[in-house]
Amino acid sequence: MIKKGIILAGGFGTRLSPLTKAVNKQLLPIYDKPMIFYPLSIMMLANIKKILMIVNPGQIENFRTLLGNGSKYGINISYKIQKKPKGLADAFIVGKNFIKRDNVALILGDNFFYGQSLTIKLEKSLKHKNGARIFLKEVRKPENYGVAKIKNNIIQKIVEKPKRYISNLAITGLYFFDNNVCKYANKLKPSKRGEIEITDLLNIYRKKNQLSHERIGRGAIWSDAGKMEDLINLSNYVESIEKVQGIKIACLEEIALFKNWIDKKKIKNNIKFYGNCEYSNYLKKL
Ligand code: DAU
Repeated sequence: MIKKGIILAGGFGTRLSPLTKAVNKQLLPIYDKPMIFYPLSIMMLANIKKILMIVNPGQIENFRTLLGNGSKYGINISYKIQKKPKGLADAFIVGKNFIKRDNVALILGDNFFYGQSLTIKLEKSLKHKNGARIFLKEVRKPENYGVAKIKNNIIQKIVEKPKRYISNLAITGLYFFDNNVCKYANKLKPSKRGEIEITDLLNIYRKKNQLSHERIGRGAIWSDAGKMEDLINLSNYVESIEKVQGIKIACLEEIALFKNWIDKKKIKNNIKFYGNCEYSNYLKKL
């Protein structure tokens, strides 16, 4: 069972500059919450309570101010700095001492997942002992993502941002790995864009026939939030769901309370911390 997770929340967020000049991208809002709440909620829904947050230099204090050591959500968050954005696979080099001998999940700090059957699929993926597992989703512009080509339900090819069309199945920023991942990450050479690529890591597993996948069905949505239009689209999406249904997406306390990780006293403290705001009003109703 995978019990540890890394949230990769560094990078320069260049495509969102000047928003990201002073503030880490993952602390920008998606509607009524900081972006980081969304991937963190996915880890929590997957019952992962031990989390390493990898951030860029100068930002740890901001994350700590918001999330602390995680105890207010009944989880454990530790932090590590990635000095330079060397690529997604660097998470397993920076996070080596956190991972130790365990298997690990990775989620990108700017990834948004929401919808039907997601929790069941997450729980299923945690049970994988050997190999790697990825989540795929159809997209309109596959050239912007890592892409997988599938035949007879087997992944045949993986390409990072393919210039020529190979498939419309994007590899989302949620990955599950066995403990070999640290060893393999150390072997990677930087790509043309100067990064050690997660897709190269996945190809190592694929060549060993150790890469499995899960499809995010039509009832669920996935998007990353790398560009301004993603921030706006996702904010509008969250707003419309929350307004119509009266429920919040990625309310960390709600997930923790449901799982019995925190009690009402902690929620009261969190309300004091957030102050008088809509999020606190929602917490009062819990
Ligand atoms: O969102 C899914 C896509 O994410 C995948 O389909 C691609 O295969 C994968 O390479 C990645 O593509 P992007 O080009 O969108 O990744 P980006 O550079 O935007 O980084 C994603 C997140 O990871 C972002 O929130 C910043 C963080 N990051 C990135 C790098 C390269 C780090 O914390 N450190 C890094 O070194």
